[in-house]
Amino acid sequence: MQYGSFPTYRPRRMRNGEAVRQMMRETELSVNDFIYPLFVKPGTGRRDEISSMPGIFQVSLDLLIAEIEELLALGVHYVILFGIPAAKDELGSESADDHGIVQEACRLIRQNAPEMFVITDVCLCEYTSHGHCGALDEDGYVNNDKTLSLLAAEAVSHARAGSQMVAPSDMMDGRVGAIREALDAAGFENVPIMSYSTKYASGYYGPFRDAADSAPSFGDRRAYQMDPANADEGVREAALDIAEGADMVMVKPALPYLDVLSRVKREFHFPTVAYNVSGEYAMVKAAAQNGWIDERRVVLETLLSIKRAGADMIITYHAKDVARWLAE
Ligand code: PBG
Ligand code: ZN
Repeated sequence: MQYGSFPTYRPRRMRNGEAVRQMMRETELSVNDFIYPLFVKPGTGRRDEISSMPGIFQVSLDLLIAEIEELLALGVHYVILFGIPAAKDELGSESADDHGIVQEACRLIRQNAPEMFVITDVCLCEYTSHGHCGALDEDGYVNNDKTLSLLAAEAVSHARAGSQMVAPSDMMDGRVGAIREALDAAGFENVPIMSYSTKYASGYYGPFRDAADSAPSFGDRRAYQMDPANADEGVREAALDIAEGADMVMVKPALPYLDVLSRVKREFHFPTVAYNVSGEYAMVKAAAQNGWIDERRVVLETLLSIKRAGADMIITYHAKDVARWLAE
């Protein structure tokens, strides 16, 4: 393809004024692109701000519907739920308890705010006493195959509570297949799976672990989450999950892995989600609070870049602010 060259072709001609810029625009953000993460906890009257995530709160069930109404009024109609359970144990049993915190939250939202679409994060780290994403062997190794049935039970319990999409974030091998099979066997063949297929062992999860109280009590997650150095492997992880029946795949975190996101989207042309994670949010918030960056400009540019790289949906803590800005 032969493009014109200067002076016949002047790219600046199509940047001269908002009308032509609009004609040129390849990517646009919409409030329909966003999934808002919500942290639910026991108790009453609790709306506790997470110190490393200004503007993000852990809420108790009695305040949950107010939170949901606020989101709906802004046009945000997808949430992903994370639970802070009343009690933790070795195997994270509350994760699959039909009256666990996420299950109760799910039921409450479905009954009181049917316009909200409820996605539930499926993992054990919030529920285990040791904070790892699966069941441990004697030596502290996260046992893959022992964990699969626990995750499957958690996903089925979420579906029974009305979860409209389950999102496994544990990074065990074979969990999408195990969850699909368990959901189907329980009559939930229409509950889709959003797989955290390509999830890196990242320093950017720090603030989330405060929010979800899910930091590992020993070691780290590098024996199950991916090595940040690997992009080919990230594409293979998405391929595996698609083959096991995932309905959406994910790249997480977003900004440091836009190359991987772009490759996953272009390789499979499959519904692809990006998780703009807690550390990405915290950095922007901190700089904005110091007056070092223009928050609105930087957030819109960031989310646009994630969409441009290939995301169909973006999980982001900025969703409320962006919904407000887009409506102006
Ligand atoms: C739990 C989970 C994590 C996040 C989503 N689900 C943390 C982790 O793997 O340690 C991170 C989200 C964020 O940082 O915003 N498996
Ligand atoms: Zn986990």
